[in-house]
This record gives sequence, C-alpha cells and structure tokens, in this order.
Amino acid sequence: MSENKQKMISVTIDGTPVTVPENTTILDAAKLLGVHIPTLCHHEDLCVAGNCRVCMVEVKGSRTLQASCATPASDGMEIYTNSRLVRTARKHVIELLLSEHRGDCLRCYRNGNCELQALANEYRIDQGVFIDLHKEDQVDISSPAIQKDDSKCIRCQRCVRACTELQSVSALCVAHKGADMRITTFWDKALAYVVCTNCGQCVTHCPTGALTERNYVEDVWDAIYDPTKHVVVQTAPAIRVS
Ligand code: FES
Repeated sequence: MSENKQKMISVTIDGTPVTVPENTTILDAAKLLGVHIPTLCHHEDLCVAGNCRVCMVEVKGSRTLQASCATPASDGMEIYTNSRLVRTARKHVIELLLSEHRGDCLRCYRNGNCELQALANEYRIDQGVFIDLHKEDQVDISSPAIQKDDSKCIRCQRCVRACTELQSVSALCVAHKGADMRITTFWDKALAYVVCTNCGQCVTHCPTGALTERNYVEDVWDAIYDPTKHVVVQTAPAIRVS
C-alpha cells in the first residue's frame, strides 16, 4: 500500500494555533480559522498573482510584510494579520490604488458592489491622500456586451487570468511595465475587434467598475467616438432624469 500522507505544519495566526497541510498559503490558513484578510488581486477561481499587496501580513522574524495569498505558511510561523504595522501599510496600498482610480463612485455602475470601494470604507479613506494619477478617460464601448473603462482599472489582472485560465480565449493581456502597465488587448485594439467571445468572465471577476456589462454608460455619458481607436472618449456625464 502506498504511503501518500501529506505533511502537516503548525502555525499561529493572531495568537491562535492552527494545523494545516504543508504548502497551504497564509491566506488559506487564516480562512480555516475564520480570520479575515482583505484581498483584491486574489480570486479562488484563478491562479495566484500576488500583485496588489492588500493582503499583506506580518510574520515574526521577517523584515518585510508578506503577501498572504502568495506566501506558503511554514512550520512554527507566527503571523499577525491585523497589527498596527499591517493596517497602516494596507491603508497606504489602498490609498495608492485609489490615486490611480477615477473616483466617481456615485455615478459608477458598481457603486455599492465594488471591492475597492468596500476596502476604502473599511479603512475609512474618504479623500485622496496622494495626487490623482488616473490617466485614461477612454471607455471602450465597441463591444455589444462589455465596456472597458481603464480609468477604473487597478491592474489586478483578474480579467486577464479569467480570460486565459477559465475561457482559454486570451482576448485580454497585459502591456508595458511598472507605472505604464495596463490591461489591453493584442495590438491594443478595441474589444469588438479581437477574439473576445463576450462570455462576461472578465466582468464577473473584475473587482471594480473597470469592466462592466454594456447596458448603462452609453445612455448616461456624453461621448465622442474616436474612429482611429474604436473607443469612446468620455466627457462630462449627463444626468438622466427619467
Ligand atoms: Fe494578495 Fe493581491 S490579494 S497580493
């Protein structure tokens, strides 16, 4: 009979010990204990990206905070998920994400159903601390089903992973690096001109209003069509009264 027993390890999370299989991430170990660690780029359906850093935790003996979604727990680890250091760092990360995000929440289709907005509320962030860095005011409404608003994108790449891993379509991809990194399509074409199948998985997995169903904005926003890019340059919103 083959011995295929998984090695178990013990860790302590916020003072409570828990035993988990080896290679369990800190995030999953915390879930077993019912300890909430906020996440943005992480999604259970998708592979680990570890790029937003919202899930940072303190590990005793480590000189840096660790992304809990991407860090496997190891035997004897002492983890703190809600220390002052963690909460301060997490708040700064959320503030930085908000600085690149067009904050017109009251007019946004995802108002009240936005993971970034929920985190901003949880950490009591009601005004921008950093300068406003959001760049794109273009909304791609070329697709009959999906609209893509880059000014709301936090570059978590959940949409790219959903498109590739769940649907094997790869209509969305990542372009450039660092501050210039953005979610786009191959050759930077509008959604209607790439292999998008309008499945909606990117919309389902987007944590903000960057990807939404195409049934709202075209009625509410004044728009100027840019035929060279097949996108709409968004202008001032028009309030619909009826
Ligand atoms: Fe862990 Fe984004 S949720 S780095």
